[in-house]
Amino acid sequence: MSDVYPLILIVDDNPINIDLLLNILKGEYRFGVAKNGAKALQYLETKKPDLILLDVMMPEIDGFEVCSKLKADPRFKDVEVIFITALSDAKYIAQGFESGAVDYITKPFKAAEVKARVQTHMSLIKMKEALNRQNIILEDQIKNKTAQLQEMFNATVGGMALMAESRDPYTAGHQHRVAQYASDIAKNMGFPADQIEAIRISGLLHDIGKIRTPVSILNRPGKLLKAEWELIKTHPSVGYNILKQIPFPWPIAEIVYQHHERIDGSGYPQGLKNEEILIEAKILAVADVIEAISSHRPYRPALSIESALNEIKSHRGSLFDETVVDSFLSASENNPRETVLNASPAPPERTGKKGETEVEMFSATDGDHNRRFEN
Ligand SMILES: [Fe+2]
Repeated sequence: MSDVYPLILIVDDNPINIDLLLNILKGEYRFGVAKNGAKALQYLETKKPDLILLDVMMPEIDGFEVCSKLKADPRFKDVEVIFITALSDAKYIAQGFESGAVDYITKPFKAAEVKARVQTHMSLIKMKEALNRQNIILEDQIKNKTAQLQEMFNATVGGMALMAESRDPYTAGHQHRVAQYASDIAKNMGFPADQIEAIRISGLLHDIGKIRTPVSILNRPGKLLKAEWELIKTHPSVGYNILKQIPFPWPIAEIVYQHHERIDGSGYPQGLKNEEILIEAKILAVADVIEAISSHRPYRPALSIESALNEIKSHRGSLFDETVVDSFLSASENNPRETVLNASPAPPERTGKKGETEVEMFSATDGDHNRRFEN
């Protein structure tokens, strides 16, 4: 309803009734007039009234049918209709409301009654419109706030990932790349957007538990002592304990906890098997291993893409979920530039002594944290 007088469409085949209504309501409203149902529908194609006063008994299309048509049309279903008719039987009154009218006035009507009812409905229409406007404003505010929160959330997750990676320049960007590969696999497997987002976030944070691993171990070239290796193996549990504090709408902590589990039970820390492992963690495991093999490490240079693909192919169905491996392989074939075939960055300057950085053979069992250790 605009600031100008509200527009009322009077639909009646009797000119006397039309004049009567115009006289009763004049001064407060603008009017449109239609002398039958068909003309009323034509009128609506050109102007949208705030309220329709609708007779029932008219030639060709009766008032009930006009009202039903309006209510079925998304353009006009919000236009309020009041029947004004000589049909006073209860069954007609019921039919009038069933067809979508908000009120039903019987003829002969009293001027004061018509005026009061029209005013009441106009007030309700105004309130409804004000509420709708308010809702639109609130929806906008919610949308903006949600976008702000989403931005903060992404920045926080990115910051947490960076915090863990900044202690270990060799794996800088590792979590981002794993998140990308894991998302690609999930997309290829036809996962819904919400689950893909869970996998992406888990990928970004999967090694956050390394925050508790001494930098000297993370960056040291050469073999590890058994005790050092055992320390590295605690990172899924450490990550779980950090992430379980955050009320994510997804089981991020559990996925991170399981990212080194293998389907034959040879993984860690729980030695879970097959269906005991979340599908998100199975995806992360493949993405993690692929990224790790094709990246530089303090204890070995990057291995070839072929090595990475052969590694997951040879352990398909033993260490890695068959469907996940197949999905990764087909994603790589379909869109190599979007997946692992994007080379990881060159390694930073090595700090170890010459001779200490001889290549260590990679084993998929332990993902990117595997290094042979010395007892
Ligand atoms: Fe890890």
